[in-house]
Amino acid sequence: MAAYLDNAATSFPKPSNVIESMTTFMALNGATSGRGAYQKALLSDQLVFQARSKIARFFNHSDPKTVVFTKNVTEAINIALKGFLKSGDQVITSSVEHNAVWRCLKMLEKNEGICINVVPADKNGQTTAESVEHALTSKTKLIIFNHASNVLGTIQPIQAIGEIANLRRIPLMVDTAQTAGHFPIDMLNSHIDILAFTGHKGLMGPMGVGGLVLSPDLNIEPLISGGTGGDSAYPYQPDYYPNHLEAGTLNVPGIVGLSSGIDFINETGLERIHSKIKMLYNYTVDQLNTIPSIELYGPIDAQKTVGVIPFNLKGYPPEEIAFYLDQQHHVMIRAGLHCAPSAHQLMGTIERGACRIGLGYYNSKEDIDQLVIGLRQYLKSKRVSSCI
Ligand SMILES: Cc1ncc(COP(=O)(O)O)c(C=O)c1O
Repeated sequence: MAAYLDNAATSFPKPSNVIESMTTFMALNGATSGRGAYQKALLSDQLVFQARSKIARFFNHSDPKTVVFTKNVTEAINIALKGFLKSGDQVITSSVEHNAVWRCLKMLEKNEGICINVVPADKNGQTTAESVEHALTSKTKLIIFNHASNVLGTIQPIQAIGEIANLRRIPLMVDTAQTAGHFPIDMLNSHIDILAFTGHKGLMGPMGVGGLVLSPDLNIEPLISGGTGGDSAYPYQPDYYPNHLEAGTLNVPGIVGLSSGIDFINETGLERIHSKIKMLYNYTVDQLNTIPSIELYGPIDAQKTVGVIPFNLKGYPPEEIAFYLDQQHHVMIRAGLHCAPSAHQLMGTIERGACRIGLGYYNSKEDIDQLVIGLRQYLKSKRVSSCI
């Protein structure tokens, strides 16, 4: 049996209701949304609106109309940052951001002259709300943080940061790529003004769909312009959400799949998913610690992380380990820098990178046992080859 342990990249397998709803839509409907007035097109409109409503409820947000669909969280982040920040604005971020945020900010710094104020994280990738408070200035236009690092798994104190942001009337934007669907997120309570999500990880949907959930009073300039299916004589992008930020045909099959992914999470129970991943996290750490040359990174505390476990075997290249595990033991993990070089700076692995386990709801203890057997065999094969 294959052990898929790369859920931080994308979740696999997908729940059967996700596959069924997408197949049914593709086979029996297939119409665009927001365009036609025939029955199939109206059904597509309804399915898309239902998806917006479910997403809004899922994140405790009151207005489905400000749920904007994109193709992934990277696009969502680009739309929000490039549409909101202007020349001379200052933005506060963490030192453990994914390149989806970091490269977007660097581009804005280069092209628009925004100022990036990076709040340092400790070696486990943890930042504090106090350091965010200290970094605030009169020019701060936005605070943008990931909810959890995709390299270290470390969960940031979003609620406390949200309280500070709210007191100072500065919008808070959160990249929820690693937490949505695994960890409860409450936009209202945590004072999140811009939530960026991706559909294909913990939310259990397919690749190709993500989005933004926005406070209605924020003015975000569209990144792309084009048809929205209405107001066609008006020469500009409509100024109301979601059409303001949604030009072009939506990925309706993907949205239908994401909607079913959220049904799956609601029916299973977010708390149950969260508990299972915590249990697997503890089991994995315990098992990995039985391997003498293991190097584990991050807080190593199930309360402080999502199901992401970075590790190395002392003296061996991570890419070789991942390749061996896949070829010899059908165990799939990631190796490299995982699109977040600053997290590797903290871990001291910027030169060699690290292996990464990404746990998901469908993983079992057997998957971890298979991984550990593979790692032991890898070390054994190395010892044998060094004696030849
Ligand atoms: C924290 C974080 N942000 C952004 C992304 C980018 O996600 P996507 O490729 O779905 O846009 C990822 C994906 O690994 C991530 O973990």
